[in-house]
Amino acid sequence: MASDFDALCIDSARLMDRLMSLAEVSPIAGGGNCRLALTDADRDGRDLVVSWMRDLNMDISIDAVGNIIACWNVGSGAPVMTGSHIDTVRTGGKFDGNYGVLAGLEVVETCQRNGYIPSRPLAVGIFTDEEGARFAPDMLGSLVYVGGMTTEEALDITAIDGPRLGDELVRIGYAGSAPCPGPVPHSFVELHIEQGPLLEANNVRIGAVTGVQGISWQEVTVVGQSNHAGTTPMSLRHDPTYVAAEIAVFLRQLSARFGDHQVCTVGKMDVFPNLINVVAARVTLTLDVRNTDENLLQQAEHEIAEFLEKIAIAEGVTITTKKLARFEPVVFDPRVIDIIESIAKQQSNTVERMPSGAGHDAQMLARVCPSAMIFVPSVNGISHNPAEHTDTEDLVAGANILLHTMLTLCATDLGRSR
Ligand code: GLV
Ligand code: MN
Ligand code: MN
Repeated sequence: MASDFDALCIDSARLMDRLMSLAEVSPIAGGGNCRLALTDADRDGRDLVVSWMRDLNMDISIDAVGNIIACWNVGSGAPVMTGSHIDTVRTGGKFDGNYGVLAGLEVVETCQRNGYIPSRPLAVGIFTDEEGARFAPDMLGSLVYVGGMTTEEALDITAIDGPRLGDELVRIGYAGSAPCPGPVPHSFVELHIEQGPLLEANNVRIGAVTGVQGISWQEVTVVGQSNHAGTTPMSLRHDPTYVAAEIAVFLRQLSARFGDHQVCTVGKMDVFPNLINVVAARVTLTLDVRNTDENLLQQAEHEIAEFLEKIAIAEGVTITTKKLARFEPVVFDPRVIDIIESIAKQQSNTVERMPSGAGHDAQMLARVCPSAMIFVPSVNGISHNPAEHTDTEDLVAGANILLHTMLTLCATDLGRSR
């Protein structure tokens, strides 16, 4: 049996076929996808992946925020779970999230076809709205799954284009009845593309992910005095566009002062009325601020708040803020990281330990069960971009590590009676 176990490996053609078929749902120019959470496109992606879950005779449950959990109910005890998301940003790639979900199905199918029965159930989750691009916060589905936000609060969140999350769930047919928080797994491991440049730069194939950096999202609204662009002297302006630009520059300078682990992004800016010859009335911009160190993240938030106060007075504008997301840095379970690292090595991969720059569902599952992640390289470190790419051999290597990590976890006592 031991040698059968060692020889188990995923079917690379089947994994790539599923990845490419899902990439045909709402493709965009440049080879990526637009499946913003709970849009028709997201529904079409869900329908396709659920059909594959049914083909594998998995038990499928859909909860009140639309998380889909498919379980292959073999063995006994709580399942070893994997999963990720299939929603994308507006200009998403083919692999972000999708890879983790479809590799999970590949793990199940590999066991089934080889007659290998794990000692615990295996579960694969598709978590709602991981991206947070349409409904903030990010990782919303997994946050609710672990009890970090109530269902009622989640259902009431409004999209950047207006509708309520609960109404969109009903509209696309994914408002389920399974309760939240959901059942606690034995353990959770998520496979994902790195989405950054480090593995490629270091010529390393596998990242054993040690944790996820902290994240702070807020929306800032600057209201000034709208006026004529030709007649209003510069000295008399209260121009929200100028203030928004100053805020972006301040964030860039703050990142430089705080060092490598500080990243800041102004990714969305809405100007009203957005016309060439009108000093704007109002600008709304988003701030995405992240650091691996919670103290530094708090310090950054503090300095940003001070700057907003100062510039509002100096420019005679009104500034209001709305918190969109706030998650502290997360440290993954060292036992799960060790298993990932040693399996990656056994399978003749180069491996290094690294934190994640991006947010992931695993950081939420880590609140309730031992969790960690596996990364594979992103070509040129590009993600949240249709050009996102990972070489097939890296995708396959990662999926094989996921397979053996999940099966090893099935047989590992992690110290609690699940
Ligand atoms: C989720 O993809 C994030 O923004 O990190
Ligand atoms: Mn992702
Ligand atoms: Mn993403």
